[in-house]
Amino acid sequence: MKTSVTAHKDFTIAKIDERIYSAFLEHLGRAIYTGIYEPGHPTTDENGMRGDVADLVRDLNIPFVRYPGGNFVSAYNWEDGIGPKDQRPVRLDLAWHTSDANQVGVHEFQDWCDKVGTRMMLAINLGSRGLDDARNFVEYVNGPVGSHWGDLRAKNGRTEPFNCRLWCLGNEMDGPWQVGHKTADEYGRLANEVAKTLRAFDKSLELIVCGSSNSDMKTYPEWERIVLEHTYDNVDHISLHMYFANRTKNTANYLALNHKLDTYISTVESTINLVKANKRSKHDVYISFDEWNVWYHSNAQDRAILEGNAGWPHAPRLLEDIYNFEDVLQVGCILNTFIRKSNVVKIACIAQLVNVIAPIMTDPMGAAWRQTIYYPYYFASVYGRGTALQLAQTGPTYKAEVADSVPYVDVSGVHNEEEGILTFFVVNRHETEALDLDLALEGFGAGVVMDHQVMVHADINAVNTSVNPMAVAPVKGVGAVVAAGRLTASLPPLSYQMLRVKLE
Ligand code: AHR
Repeated sequence: MKTSVTAHKDFTIAKIDERIYSAFLEHLGRAIYTGIYEPGHPTTDENGMRGDVADLVRDLNIPFVRYPGGNFVSAYNWEDGIGPKDQRPVRLDLAWHTSDANQVGVHEFQDWCDKVGTRMMLAINLGSRGLDDARNFVEYVNGPVGSHWGDLRAKNGRTEPFNCRLWCLGNEMDGPWQVGHKTADEYGRLANEVAKTLRAFDKSLELIVCGSSNSDMKTYPEWERIVLEHTYDNVDHISLHMYFANRTKNTANYLALNHKLDTYISTVESTINLVKANKRSKHDVYISFDEWNVWYHSNAQDRAILEGNAGWPHAPRLLEDIYNFEDVLQVGCILNTFIRKSNVVKIACIAQLVNVIAPIMTDPMGAAWRQTIYYPYYFASVYGRGTALQLAQTGPTYKAEVADSVPYVDVSGVHNEEEGILTFFVVNRHETEALDLDLALEGFGAGVVMDHQVMVHADINAVNTSVNPMAVAPVKGVGAVVAAGRLTASLPPLSYQMLRVKLE
């Protein structure tokens, strides 16, 4: 069987905003404590940050990391995380039924961002708190010395403003589980007032208003319309979240789920356009897909803590999904969707980054290693920068729960004009058949295959562990060539590949 694809130099989608390769870290489980932060760990620095984890994060070249939540942020007092560490309060975290000694706050997080070469994207509590706390937090983070909050920041060791540019106005405010959950009208009005106020402080901040927690929410997509009717001209992005699961152990259905993601994004894009037209606005609003990943492996084991039957543990194991080979293919398909939707998705955050539904795992006082899904995220983030290509594709398809005609091959293409490189990310969803890829390269001139990485495994349930951290890892591909303006390769059943062509 063959899949034919055409890439043409002039058929493009958009310049990819590198922020689609961002990530998320929440005060949840062991993401922060024994994740990025573990005083006494053999690799720890003077701030208590783990060096082994920092090395794995740095390699991912992550533009922004969203912090500090998530559901956690909706009852979080940012002031608890500043000042001398021994005077910070231990608080009960109502989102995850745990406790937090606030040993990491905005200062420590910024230091960690500097260490790993990323920038922070901060979320504001609009659940248990409101406008005044929002403006105080933003002034503390970005305000000048000589003002009350700027002076307090300087007293706490940081004279220069943090200069955080991206601000999330709350988290999943459509969710009944959220502390301070609101209706779309209640939230829209509040978010607009907060946005106006933050703009009065600094009109160049990029503000992200909450959209839906997932596309199965009863309020979707009316939530987006109503919230945007309230906020449109004062915000820059609307946030969407989505998690993926294979609960019925049906690989074909599971790997088709990015079709649902595609529809979700298109629907919200249409809603943005509707509100823009209603308002006769010249302003553009984009999508910040600031939580996405596979999340289901750990659901059963988390129940006791989440139902409050374990007291208020500090940094327990929560949401510790152990990813398998099948999840590599899913994450590859999700990232392909963001590349194909790069005209409207300008920010996306893998949720999360360490230990909690994460590509990186740690043992307390022990090793750090890459989960299986680290690799497709790594390849996209490091090599998927440039202009997204509008590919034309024909080939065999199959019927899945979410769509009648799902192509077996999921592909995205990126043209990096500065470096003269074409990069294709390709997933073969077929469970038993290898497929031939025949990719016509039009208008690019001659080229040669400069890199070919393949992920295949005999067992879709194979995982990486601290004892066997390389059980699922990429290998160099063979047989891909460019000849007579066509890139050809054989795609093994259930495989992920990255193909790179150096143009002459
Ligand atoms: O990432 C885990 C949780 O998923 C986040 O806290 C919340 O925003 C979402 O429901």
